[in-house]
Amino acid sequence: MRHLISPLDFTVEELTELLDLANDIERNPEKYAHKCEGKQLATLFYEPSTRTRLSFESAMNRLGGKVIGFATADSSSAAKGESVSDTIRIVSCYADICAMRHPKEGAATVAALKSKIPVINAGDGGHQHPTQTLTDLLTIRSLKGRLDHITIGLCGDLKFGRTVHSLINALVRYEDVKFVLISPPELRVPSYIREEVLNGFDFQEVTDLEDVMPQLDILYMTRVQKERFFNEDDYIRMKDCYILDKAKMKLAKEDMLVLHPLPRVNEISVEVDDDPRAAYFKQVQYGVYVRMALILKLLELA
Ligand code: NCD
Repeated sequence: MRHLISPLDFTVEELTELLDLANDIERNPEKYAHKCEGKQLATLFYEPSTRTRLSFESAMNRLGGKVIGFATADSSSAAKGESVSDTIRIVSCYADICAMRHPKEGAATVAALKSKIPVINAGDGGHQHPTQTLTDLLTIRSLKGRLDHITIGLCGDLKFGRTVHSLINALVRYEDVKFVLISPPELRVPSYIREEVLNGFDFQEVTDLEDVMPQLDILYMTRVQKERFFNEDDYIRMKDCYILDKAKMKLAKEDMLVLHPLPRVNEISVEVDDDPRAAYFKQVQYGVYVRMALILKLLELA
């Protein structure tokens, strides 16, 4: 039985197959509309989410399956003190597959150890968010036609942004990917990413977005992760450190793509939404196709 805890759980070849399947689902949704009949997905969300939870639910519904679950820790037995290990044993009796989001790093790994059903990590604290990475990879590959030979700028909260950590992990496996890490000094990527993941790869760390804008093929904007700050003053000082607007978009290549895992707060001005290079709402749609593909793969139905 397989789980998805980290973006490295799939080989590059397996990822290619998964993204191909997602593109086929996009083209022929009716072919997949009954594949999960009789199957249940449990969504165990101990931390707030709109997109990730709803996109899992939408994915399972579009496959003809059913969904059970909870959306906040206080509406589950976690509020009574139940451990993740116990909860997953229980859920293994009710559902065929589960997606879990938890504020603690490593929670999905703990769940997978005790689970009798495939566990999908839908975000564990400031650590990883592999299904957002699958979404990002599908978006880039579908709109750019490739995952190699690209220069990607990752901008904003690179310290706490788990989508950034997962995406870097995944992209270092493709040829000639250059990383431009754009953040205030306080929000640099964690040292383990620099030293263990990016070591030996082409990356630069900068604080100024305008300066690097002309080099980028992809600009991945992120929200300053308010909920992971220890101190409100630091958050307030940094929350608007980067705001992408029309003026900055003028500096970019004509075919640069702007991605964002969403939710957006202030970091992309709404005036950018109509720019044909703004791909963050398309990205949401790709997130559903790739989660459909993932559910099919983990349930061994494709
Ligand atoms: C991201 C997350 O939860 O890490 N959201 C998402 O799942 N699309 C990004 C964020 O919350 O900023």
